Amino acid sequence: MSDFEAVARAEEIPPGTGKQLLLGDHVIALFNVDGTFYAMDGTCLHRGGPVGEGDLEGTIVTCPWHGFQYDVTTGRNVMDPDIGLTPYKVEVTDGVVKIAID
Ligand code: FES
Repeated sequence: MSDFEAVARAEEIPPGTGKQLLLGDHVIALFNVDGTFYAMDGTCLHRGGPVGEGDLEGTIVTCPWHGFQYDVTTGRNVMDPDIGLTPYKVEVTDGVVKIAID
């Protein structure tokens, strides 16, 4: 069973935005899509760019370095769905966003 750890307050990440953060040794990208939070690995599969700092449009984030795009609800790469970033479970309790890493 995975433990959820608090990583942010929900109001820090308004709808349509994301955040890059560290949870232990893990680099995490956390996004707010219309009030629903999604988390995945934050290190781009191309050259390690900070995916959590990319622009979010709908459910698609664009890596700020060279434009790789990922669906934040699944972590899958848009151009090549055979590859993707590991998604993580998210829960929000009393305005606190928590992520579980197995
Ligand atoms: S490092 Fe993300 S697109 Fe190049």
